[in-house]
Amino acid sequence: MTLFSPRGPLRGTAPIPGDKSISHRALMLAALAVGRSRIEGLNAGGDLASTRAALEAMGARIAMEADGACTVDGVGVGGLLQPSAPFHCGNSGTSARLLMGLAASHRIRAEFTGDASLMRRPMGRVAAPLRRIGARIEGDSLPLTVEGLMPALPTRHVLEVPSAQVKSALLLAGLNTPGLTEIVEAVPTRDHLERLLFQFGAEIESRDGRILLRGEAQLEPQRLFIAGDSSAAAFLAVAALVVPGSDILIPGVGVNPTRMGLYDMLREMGADITLVNQREHSSEPVADLIVRHSALDGIEVPPEIAPSMIDEYPILFIAAAFARGTTRAFGLAELRLKESDRICAMAAGLRAIGVCVEEEGDALAVHGLGAGPLPGGTSIDPGLDHRVAMSFAVAGLHARLPIGVANMAVVDTSFPGFLSALGALAPQ
Ligand code: S3P
Repeated sequence: MTLFSPRGPLRGTAPIPGDKSISHRALMLAALAVGRSRIEGLNAGGDLASTRAALEAMGARIAMEADGACTVDGVGVGGLLQPSAPFHCGNSGTSARLLMGLAASHRIRAEFTGDASLMRRPMGRVAAPLRRIGARIEGDSLPLTVEGLMPALPTRHVLEVPSAQVKSALLLAGLNTPGLTEIVEAVPTRDHLERLLFQFGAEIESRDGRILLRGEAQLEPQRLFIAGDSSAAAFLAVAALVVPGSDILIPGVGVNPTRMGLYDMLREMGADITLVNQREHSSEPVADLIVRHSALDGIEVPPEIAPSMIDEYPILFIAAAFARGTTRAFGLAELRLKESDRICAMAAGLRAIGVCVEEEGDALAVHGLGAGPLPGGTSIDPGLDHRVAMSFAVAGLHARLPIGVANMAVVDTSFPGFLSALGALAPQ
C-alpha cells in the first residue's frame, strides 16, 4: 500500500516517458524495415516489453544502448519468422491487437495470451476484420491463435468502433498484403501509425476519414525520437492544477491533435495550461507544457470528444472532483472495456474518498467539491489498471486524510518513473 497525502505545491520540471502508442508502432515498423533503425525516447514500461519480446521472437534484433536508445535490425515486410512460444502480452491491449494484425498477413501461427485484465478484453473487433483478409483466428478473447494468410486479401474495412488499435492492426496487416488496403473511420482516432508509415516510406494516403495503404511495402530504416506521452503528462498536469500554489513545466509532450481532448476540456474548466516551444519530433508535434494551479468549474464533456481523450477520463474525473459544480461526461461505453471497467472503478473510488457521483449507463456525473481538499481517508485497489492507480495517487495530494493505493507497481505498465516524477515536483 502506498499512501498519498499533501506535500505542498508542485514546482519545477517533471520528466515523462516516451509516448506508449508511438513506441509500440515505432518498434513494429522498425522490425519490418530493411536495415537498422535507431529509436530514442522509447517508453520503458511493461507494455513495450511485451511488444519487444514478440518482435524478437519473430526475428527482429533489438538492442538497448547505454544512453537508453535502442537499435532495431528489421526483417523486412513479409519476413517475420514463426515464433516458437506463445506471445505473452501482459496487460497490453495495444501489443495484442497490433501484433495480431502483423501475424494475420504473414505465413505464421501465433498464440496470444495475457494477464487477467487482458483476457477479459474484447478481441473480436480485431479478429473479425482480420478473418476477412483471410487469417484463421479461433476465439474472440485471449488466449487465441492467429494463423496468417500470405498473400492476404486486400480489403476495404469500415470501422465499427472508433478504435486506433483496430485501425492500426488492419494497417499493419495491410503492409504485407498485395494491392490496396482501405480503412474508413467515421470518427478520427490517433493517427500515429499513419504518420510513421509515411516517414518509413510506405505509400499511404489519409484524407477525410479514408486511409489507403499500398501493401508489399519496402520500409526504409529510420532514426526516430519519440515524443513524450501526453497521457502520462496528464496525471502530473492535473496534480499541478489541483494542488494550491503549483507551477510546473512538463517538457517535450506530444501534442498531436488526435490526443488533445483532455487538455481542451481542462481549459474549458478554467485550467491555466500553456504550450510553449512548439516543434516536431519524428513527424509528431511536440511542445513544453506550463501548468499552474487553477480554480476549475464543472463542464459537460460531449461524446464526440471521447476518442481524443479515451485514456484520460480517470484523471478528468479527479479534476472534476476539485471543480465547482458538476461535470457530466457522455458516451463512455468504451471505458468499460479498458484495463478495468473504468466507469465502475472510478465511480466506486470517488465515492470512497468522499465525492458524490452518479453513474448512468455510459455517462458519469461527478459533483465537484470546489477547490478541495477532498475528504480522503481510505484506500483504493486499482486492480490491474495503471491509470486508476495514478488517478487516486493524484487525488491524495490534496486530501484531508491520506489516500492509500494498493499495488502502485501496476503503474510500471505505462509510467515506470511516476513516483519519482512526483517526487521531483514535490519533494517530501
Ligand atoms: C491505443 C488506443 C486506445 C487507447 C490505448 C492505446 C493505441 O485504444 O485506449 O491505451 O495505442 O492505439 P482504442 O483505440 O482501442 O480505443
